[in-house]
Amino acid sequence: MTTQRSRPPRGLFITLEGIEGCGKSTQARLLGEYLRSQGLVTVETREPGGTPLAEKIRSAMLDRADEPVAAETEAFLVFAARRQHVAQVIEPALARGAVVLCDRFSDSTLAYQGYARGLNVSLLERLNRLASHAVTPDLTLLFDLPVATGLARRRSAAETNRLDRESLRFHHKVRAGFLDLATRHPNRMKVVPARASKETVARAVTRIIAPMLSRVRQAMNEAAGSRTSSPRTTKARHALR
Ligand SMILES: Nc1ncnc2c1ncn2[C@@H]1O[C@H](COP(=O)(O)OP(=O)(O)OP(=O)(O)O)[C@@H](O)[C@H]1O
Ligand SMILES: [Mg+2]
Repeated sequence: MTTQRSRPPRGLFITLEGIEGCGKSTQARLLGEYLRSQGLVTVETREPGGTPLAEKIRSAMLDRADEPVAAETEAFLVFAARRQHVAQVIEPALARGAVVLCDRFSDSTLAYQGYARGLNVSLLERLNRLASHAVTPDLTLLFDLPVATGLARRRSAAETNRLDRESLRFHHKVRAGFLDLATRHPNRMKVVPARASKETVARAVTRIIAPMLSRVRQAMNEAAGSRTSSPRTTKARHALR
């Protein structure tokens, strides 16, 4: 992003990124379990989506379309959904001291609509600042694996969406875009090799996250001071896949 708020107000904002089928949703679930086992409060959510309106936008964007969909249309849809999601879910959760695990976020917009579709990346970064309310992840886990491996995993799953059905060349550009973003933001983005077993990948994630947990424990304890009881986890109401 061109301009970043250095960190969200209190909790910890972690995004999971990567090509189709790289294991984002699987690792979000495993990481959520790990964090809760450490006594932390988690909010698991996804983009596009995470609120009722944003999930409707997700469907409009990802369902099979009977007409060509311009790259700009995709970008505006995803930004509209993000603005709702940040305001309704992410900022309030961070203010409560929670760890927010978000399956895709701004880097996906840059990789898909920028690097792969060819929209200007710095323009997208500026629009994203508006859409994200300048909320920037504390940590972005980029699960990297060969395109063919990801697509094979994904296509063996129940259903594919409009972007899954793009050409191999498109997905190669997405992967290369993510890797370029990781070299541009080495402090925020950590590349996690994702070919190994789910458990091995999860252990690599835990090693990256463990040193960040003391700060969020402190934030959570401060927030808990004003509450008598709270649920340990919240899922954005509209399904994670
Ligand atoms: N490390 C792994 N090894 C083998 N299979 C895996 C691994 N991680 C996930 N899978 C399987 O691959 C498929 C895709 O995984 P998952 O849904 O977590 O990926 P994703 O990145 O969320 O995909 P999408 O971008 O389509 O949402 C699932 O069937 C999952 O069980
Ligand atoms: Mg997924």
